[in-house]
Amino acid sequence: MPDLSDVIIVNNVTMRFNMPKEKVDSIKEYLIKFLKRQLKFEEFVALNNVSLTIKKGEVIGFVGLNGSGKSTLLKIISGILKPSEGTAISIGSISPLIELGAGFDMDLTARENIFLNGSVLGYSKHTMEQKYDEIIEFSELQEFQDVAIKNYSSGMIARLGFSIATITRPEILIVDEILSVGDFLFQRKSEKRIQEMMNGGTTVLIVSHSIDQIERLCDRVVWLDKGKIKATGNTSEICEMYKNTTR
Ligand SMILES: Nc1ncnc2c1ncn2[C@@H]1O[C@H](COP(=O)(O)OP(=O)(O)OP(=O)(O)O)[C@@H](O)[C@H]1O
Ligand SMILES: [Mg+2]
Repeated sequence: MPDLSDVIIVNNVTMRFNMPKEKVDSIKEYLIKFLKRQLKFEEFVALNNVSLTIKKGEVIGFVGLNGSGKSTLLKIISGILKPSEGTAISIGSISPLIELGAGFDMDLTARENIFLNGSVLGYSKHTMEQKYDEIIEFSELQEFQDVAIKNYSSGMIARLGFSIATITRPEILIVDEILSVGDFLFQRKSEKRIQEMMNGGTTVLIVSHSIDQIERLCDRVVWLDKGKIKATGNTSEICEMYKNTTR
């Protein structure tokens, strides 16, 4: 039964990707094979019939080995990917922090990227001008604001991304692995900001390979394994099971 407090409803979602089966060495060879219909693909099922509901204000952690489907699921929830089967509905504004540097232009400076990102997120130039100092200050990139971000370290890019995504309180915040790239001081600071959002009623979805971080922040954990939900429930219980897993 749908509940009024449900803000994310994932219903029987399956995601298939076509993976090239053979190695093609050049674009020319690719085109010839494409035209001759000789390209062979293998279907890969990244998510297999996943269903999940999340309530307003919940902080959900996603754990699972590399390739288990975490990022794919979050991309479907945020509308970046369309599932092959099933539906994903979310209610409210979403700030997705999915991939490091996604939405950034590496040749532009932090300043330029802040305005670019702001317009993508639907903020006016005026709003971004008002928020600019706060973003730079939170990301601690004052000295680097006019440097092209291709010269940034991965932690610096993550800091900029997190600072932009959290200037206004979204109804749903999605954080995929971004926090673990920042140093421990930035992690502490961003966790505090997430806590503040949680207190304000934001629903937060976190993917992290840092089990400590998941245990500190989350009310509930979803464990994905080979594209399926292996277990979901109480944070300490699921983390304990996950830590004892073997390949
Ligand atoms: N665009 C794509 N095309 C083909 N296969 C893909 C694509 N995106 C993801 N996959 C495959 O789907 C599977 C799940 O990937 P996903 O990125 O969701 O894993 P993950 O759980 O986030 O892993 P990690 O912990 O390494 O971030 C992987 O096997 C990956 O190769
Ligand atoms: Mg991932």
